Amino acid sequence: MKLWTGRFSKEIDPKTNDFNSSIQFDSRMYKEDITGSMAHAAMLGAQGINSKEDTDAILAGLQGILEDLESGALAIDPNAEDIHTFVEQTLTERIGSAGKRLHTSRSRNDQVALDDRLTLRNECDALIPQLKELIAVLAKQAADHAEDIMPSYTHLQRAQPIVFGHHLLAYAEMFLRDIGRLEDARKRMNVSPLGSGALAGTTYDIDREMTAKELGFDGPCHNSLDGVSDRDFCIEFAAALSLIMVHLSRFAEEVCLWCSWEFKFIELDDAFSTGSSIMPQKKNPDIAELVRGKSGRVFGDLMGLLTVMKGLPLAYNKDMQEDKEAVFDAFDTVKMCLTAFIPMIDTMTVLPENMRKAAAGGFINATDCADYLVGRGLPFRDAYKCTGELVALCIEKGTTLEDLPLEEYRQVCDLFEEGVYDAISLERCVSQRTCIGAPAPENVRKEAARVAALVAE
Ligand code: ARG
Repeated sequence: MKLWTGRFSKEIDPKTNDFNSSIQFDSRMYKEDITGSMAHAAMLGAQGINSKEDTDAILAGLQGILEDLESGALAIDPNAEDIHTFVEQTLTERIGSAGKRLHTSRSRNDQVALDDRLTLRNECDALIPQLKELIAVLAKQAADHAEDIMPSYTHLQRAQPIVFGHHLLAYAEMFLRDIGRLEDARKRMNVSPLGSGALAGTTYDIDREMTAKELGFDGPCHNSLDGVSDRDFCIEFAAALSLIMVHLSRFAEEVCLWCSWEFKFIELDDAFSTGSSIMPQKKNPDIAELVRGKSGRVFGDLMGLLTVMKGLPLAYNKDMQEDKEAVFDAFDTVKMCLTAFIPMIDTMTVLPENMRKAAAGGFINATDCADYLVGRGLPFRDAYKCTGELVALCIEKGTTLEDLPLEEYRQVCDLFEEGVYDAISLERCVSQRTCIGAPAPENVRKEAARVAALVAE
């Protein structure tokens, strides 16, 4: 049965009913729908719009439906048009005509906007602790590897020496910003559309402040048209989720590189790796690859939402029913990715000797060699050129800056002395990088502690 009987002379075509219906994906909002209805019903009672007797019956009825859904005693009817229809009809079946008074002064348009907000608010709240957990794992690994020298890269070419902990903490920064974005999106989400009605509010003497407060909102929205038309909060949430996926995906890509034989900087735990059906030697980083791959669907969800909304006239249009699958999929995907990713990072084995070996090749101390000459009075641009010549010489001779004899250095520039070898030692290159945000081990230890404290309960 539809809520919209009266004007119609026939039932909706069954296949079209399936097309039109949202119950398959909005039933996950049953709790939020019932909670919202309870706040609405209590307000109607308090304002004398519904009698106390009817209000009590409605509230008890809704509570019973909630409990029965949770216990499994009541199943959601897959043929209902949507969760709002299902709850209201079940209520009326159970308590009789009082149930028909629940929807007074309300529309499904403000109801669904409310349910969306309540649901996404909970989802924001569910993701933040997961991101904190990931950051805590990164902080722990970073502290454990605050002295393990590795090459950093630009253009995937070895660049300058850093420590592994510093690299991990770069991701911690990204995920901290992600938390900030979720908190920020949650703030704008936390406004109640209830009482916007179909689009023009209502003539009943409702108390929007009361329902907003009861449902934990910062207040009611100020414009009834906007209240039912706005899905910015879905888009903002999906955008925040997309950026989380960008970060996870970049990290996943590095994990894949790092556990290749070409790098072998880390080894993933067997519990977070997979094998090949034919090649017995294989240990594949499928989890990282899947996380990288799943970023695509979250970006797709965001793009879908933007496209659904961009041409809609005010106020509600059925197109907006499409908000839910997209935003729920984005949330579910991020949650799943984090659930697999966090223990994968937590249990990975770091192989510092291999990092150190990679750091020893590729002339990543060339900048420090130039800086040594600057320290002896040469302008940086000249020092840069001398060092470039030395690197070319090393390549020609098949050696490194560490092993190049001092005479060769001095042929390029007579400012070189024995001290150059100390200046270009990787340990020194790293330990001297003590300015704010730089990778000296003492900095990394401090930053790891700061980040850990930020996410500690
Ligand atoms: N299932 C609908 C949705 O998700 C509920 C709102 C229906 N409102 C309407 N005017 N048809 O958007």
